[in-house]
Amino acid sequence: MILKKIELINFRNYEHLSTRFYKGINIIYGDNAQGKTNLLESIYVLGLTKSHRSFIDNNLIRKDKEKAIIKGSINNGGLDTNLSISIDYKNKILSMDDSLIKKTSDYISNMNIIIFYPDDLELLKGSPQNRRKYLNLELSQLYSNYYIVSNDYNKLLKMRNEYLKKMNFNNNVDMNYFDILTNYLIDKAIILIKMRYKYIEKINAYCETIYKDIMNLDGFQIKYCPSIDIDYKDDDLSRKNLKEFYKKQLNYDIKMCSTSYGPHKDDFEFLLNENNLKLFGSQGQQRIAVLSLKLSEIEIFKKYKNTTPILLLDDVFSELSDDKKNNLLKYISKDIQTIITTTELNNLNEKLIKKSKLFKIESGKLIKIKEVKENE
Ligand SMILES: Nc1ncnc2c1ncn2[C@@H]1O[C@H](COP(=O)(O)OP(=O)(O)OP(=O)(O)O)[C@@H](O)[C@H]1O
Ligand SMILES: [Mg+2]
Repeated sequence: MILKKIELINFRNYEHLSTRFYKGINIIYGDNAQGKTNLLESIYVLGLTKSHRSFIDNNLIRKDKEKAIIKGSINNGGLDTNLSISIDYKNKILSMDDSLIKKTSDYISNMNIIIFYPDDLELLKGSPQNRRKYLNLELSQLYSNYYIVSNDYNKLLKMRNEYLKKMNFNNNVDMNYFDILTNYLIDKAIILIKMRYKYIEKINAYCETIYKDIMNLDGFQIKYCPSIDIDYKDDDLSRKNLKEFYKKQLNYDIKMCSTSYGPHKDDFEFLLNENNLKLFGSQGQQRIAVLSLKLSEIEIFKKYKNTTPILLLDDVFSELSDDKKNNLLKYISKDIQTIITTTELNNLNEKLIKKSKLFKIESGKLIKIKEVKENE
């Protein structure tokens, strides 16, 4: 999959930008605060409708303007698709090939993106919420059904929690209604847990080798830590067990006015020889762990979606030592469209620069420095 061109209107520090990307490696260099991260962010928002670094969509709109627009043209297996997203202070409008798209689930699996950025380390070091958000996003890119089930689950969870609150303050409650709600919640929970489990199983088929290639250490694995146990082969048994489990848990849930267990409490760990890297890993080991997870995902996209995602690398090379940098570069090939930002071209090796399209960025203006012939 490649992003052929992008146009930005009043997005962050860009008033207007229109540019074409090369199908292989694109390097964007420039001083601090010129708009490198903003450009990668716009590509991310175009594909996934939300920013990777800001929860608030309004921040994406250029100061003192009313609306930000991102338009892009992608090519997947010879087929062109035009995506566009427009964000104002009230609405976000998605469209594909000039037709409005109402459901985010119909939009978000069209453009697949993997991003590496300096704050990525938070995925490993930060709270479980970061890791759940990550699982949700990646699985939604792979399977549009995941996004739908996950939304349904969140709605049911909210309704159940509201009812628990009611039960805490009021004895006059409809237990039939509450049980139906819980049963629906259980059905969705089983689907989500199974999809997450299978996804991490797929990641584990690749990440150990990738980690070893870069770090020269054996024994790297990702461990899924669901907050409730299910039987992965027998949904009926899982349903029965979970109904009992939630019943036992009910008094506590009423006291807390919330559902204490379920996919909304899941987590996963990065292990090196069974030890949690969050607790004992060096900064370098942690950084490569996150990189390995993301590089494994490229393999999953290739195998299960028959496409390569667009790879965005925001200033990641400056953080790595030379040997790790070279090991990582082996994974960046012309077969996968990559957009790299850096403050210093010296952070990148000459061979890489030679085969890349080069842009310089200055105050939200992109200047083309070097082309690559399309058949090169
Ligand atoms: N909504 C907005 N409207 C106008 N300008 C904005 C908006 N949001 C951010 N900016 C500005 O965009 C500029 C570029 O930010 P960006 O994060 O892209 O820089 P960068 O080139 O990645 O820098 P660094 O090398 O330090 O990471 C900053 O000066 C920032 O203040
Ligand atoms: Mg930046």
